Amino acid sequence: MLDDNLTSASITHNLETHFIGQRVVYFPVLTSTMEVAKREAQQGAVEGTVILADEQTMGRGRLRRVWLSPKGSVALSIILYPGVAYLPSLIMLSSLAVVHSIEAVAGLKSQIKWPNDVLVNGKKVCGILIESEVRGNIVNYAIIGIGINVNQRLSHFPGILPIATSLCDELGRDVSRLDVIRHLLVEIERLYLTLPVGEAVYEEWRDGMVTLGKRVRVRSGKTRYEGVAESVARDGSLLLRLSDGSLIKIVAGDVTLND
Ligand code: BTN
Repeated sequence: MLDDNLTSASITHNLETHFIGQRVVYFPVLTSTMEVAKREAQQGAVEGTVILADEQTMGRGRLRRVWLSPKGSVALSIILYPGVAYLPSLIMLSSLAVVHSIEAVAGLKSQIKWPNDVLVNGKKVCGILIESEVRGNIVNYAIIGIGINVNQRLSHFPGILPIATSLCDELGRDVSRLDVIRHLLVEIERLYLTLPVGEAVYEEWRDGMVTLGKRVRVRSGKTRYEGVAESVARDGSLLLRLSDGSLIKIVAGDVTLND
């Protein structure tokens, strides 16, 4: 495995950001970076603080799933204090930043599957989890959690092999996690700072989404739907055209592509 020992200093050194990643708290092993980030945020950690772990023992996925993050993967959480209007954009900018970083560092094309899975050659390479605490119109904090399969061999994880991949499995060689992380932090900050100026993040997220125009099955809570994924709204929800012609809005769920 490529010897890219992660340290706080290796990430912050000359990092071209104003605040994201200027403070990095690194742990060799952690239950979940989300837990530590939440504690830090509740104590008022400086905006842009990154909690990074080489390995998580209880990584959390969306919809209460487990997220496997063994050594070789990237697992980090970023603490932000955005205005409430920007909350839906965090999913969008995070997945775009991952797509841009994978292309820049590994030279691989990736795609976004609603709401925020990043796929390479149709298999999941990254998952994103956003957690926030909101009171009324005030966001106490928001945490972006990102897990990227970088240098782990998925053949060691047969349970997810049919649906997941890693950058090294795709390329047949290891990839510098340091480069991936540094690029990602710069890109997240760049996109975050564009939010007040327009809709570029939403438009790029929508236009590149592999789900749109496809016949899909959607699981949302206990309900199942089937239809054509027509579009995604500015608030991040999926607009699904059902066979009876009606259009429904799905705020949270899981999508399987039928074709
Ligand atoms: C998903 O696709 O279900 C989301 C997975 C999110 C995983 C990341 S890894 C870093 C952070 N810490 C966690 O426990 N989860 C997120």
